[in-house]
Amino acid sequence: FIPRPPAHAALVVRSLPSASAEERQQILEDVEYNVFAFPAGLLTCDFLSDSGTSAMTDVQWAALMRGDESYGRNWGYYCLLDAFRDIFERGHNRHHIMERVLAGKTDVEFYQTKLLVSSQGGFVNGGRYQLERPNFFILPQGRCAETLLFSIMSSMIAEGYGSHPEHGKPTTIISNGFFDTTGANAAVAGFQLQTFTQPGLTDPFPSELIGVKNNFKGNLDLAATKLYLEGHPGKVSMILVTITNNWAAAQPVSMANIRGAAALARDYSIPLFLDACRFAENAYFIQKYEDGYADKSIADIVQEMFSYAEGFTISLKKDGLANMGGVLCFRDQGMFAQRYEGIGMLLKERQILCYGNDSYGGMSGRDLMAASAGLYQVTDQAYLCNRITQVQSFAQKLQANDIAVLSPPGGHAVYLDMDHFFFGCNRKLEDFAAVGFTLELIKKYGIRAAEAGPFGWAYDLKPVEERAKIPNLVRFAVPRHVYSDEHIDYTVAAIKDLYERRHTVPNAVITRGKHMKLRHFSAGLKP
Ligand code: F0G
Repeated sequence: FIPRPPAHAALVVRSLPSASAEERQQILEDVEYNVFAFPAGLLTCDFLSDSGTSAMTDVQWAALMRGDESYGRNWGYYCLLDAFRDIFERGHNRHHIMERVLAGKTDVEFYQTKLLVSSQGGFVNGGRYQLERPNFFILPQGRCAETLLFSIMSSMIAEGYGSHPEHGKPTTIISNGFFDTTGANAAVAGFQLQTFTQPGLTDPFPSELIGVKNNFKGNLDLAATKLYLEGHPGKVSMILVTITNNWAAAQPVSMANIRGAAALARDYSIPLFLDACRFAENAYFIQKYEDGYADKSIADIVQEMFSYAEGFTISLKKDGLANMGGVLCFRDQGMFAQRYEGIGMLLKERQILCYGNDSYGGMSGRDLMAASAGLYQVTDQAYLCNRITQVQSFAQKLQANDIAVLSPPGGHAVYLDMDHFFFGCNRKLEDFAAVGFTLELIKKYGIRAAEAGPFGWAYDLKPVEERAKIPNLVRFAVPRHVYSDEHIDYTVAAIKDLYERRHTVPNAVITRGKHMKLRHFSAGLKP
């Protein structure tokens, strides 16, 4: 057996600490047993998040050195705009700008023909069009894009924009799954949320009952969406499809589903937006599993996915391979722009007030360069194959040790099924045993993962009818370009050890902050 060849080599390394279990136990007490508050510098493997945790490539570091920190229109601004045109809009000339910029070749003609253009219906106006009709906003991270979008939309809706004379104001957003900050931002802005994830997330794979493989468990439930739209005329302001679906265990969304969502949105005159944080991983799954896409390039698949959208938010900390960054953009002169006429100017005013002028939006110019290069590299076929294969092999190694994971594994993370893990141990969901597992994993092995279940999703505070929707999972999010098979094997062995002595893993109780919003970030606990 020859394993797959390695896909990259390390040029810069960092030594890992050698703290003992007793020392980590002491620190756990000091941080009130909150895993988010545990110092990363004392961990051996950190699977808390894939967000902002990528190791940058040599090309990104080279691009970073070519960046600058001019207050008005730094290089990173032009590179990012052009990278977005290349990657998300149809018919663009990939890699053109990075080649020119890395070679240091730029001139007046280049600005005039390439950079100052209108996107004519696309997501990225340039030059004076970006001044007259702004539709592209740089921000420090994804949640800032969400805050900006939902708060401005909400105030425009309050003034009557998008309202129907008979049915009143459209204050509901439908999604296949809201990430926690996305849902919280929309709720704070006054929106009601409706989550219609396709049923069957935790079904076995392939389904033992009907023998089918559902490779796209992140899909929007189109039938439920249609039913809701029928029953609530004029009430829905947006359909937001998250690709891949982080709420539904990192599961991908099929092209057919995105197309179906777009058709529904069009029928009801509602804009379709994407939460596009992991767009490249989603495109890879479409290429691999959806009929008719095996021979299409990732570039083509991405452009088709986005051709159905009126706009999108994206955190560049995931599939931007960057450590920081976010963007909000929408189609120039599209349905969203028309419905909320003038929204671009309002967004821009708020962006400048809160984050900085539009050429950097709270980012440093050099980080914009790193993100621009990252967007090209993340859509590389070999990169994506290696990335997804690593996550899949992590899941397979766990399954080979009888540890149940959600199957098939999604893009950026492996999810342990904690109902199965503690089966026969007489643990109730409100015992937060899965949190106890994450504490034990840090203490004994220096490995950090996050509970995504009854504690994180506030099971104890939800009405009974909503409780059934809450899964009981622990997420191991895999940072990009950081870990080798050695880290994965160590982690699998550690999980196996805890599985074998699962009866001894303590439950957890909340000692402080039970009612706080997004309490997993800051509540205190005790085993
Ligand atoms: N949308 C999705 C689907 C996300 O997964 C995240 C972040 C965001 C929006 C917000 O982006 O962090 O740049 O503000 N997810 C990270 C995670 C934090 O660990 O899953 P951000």
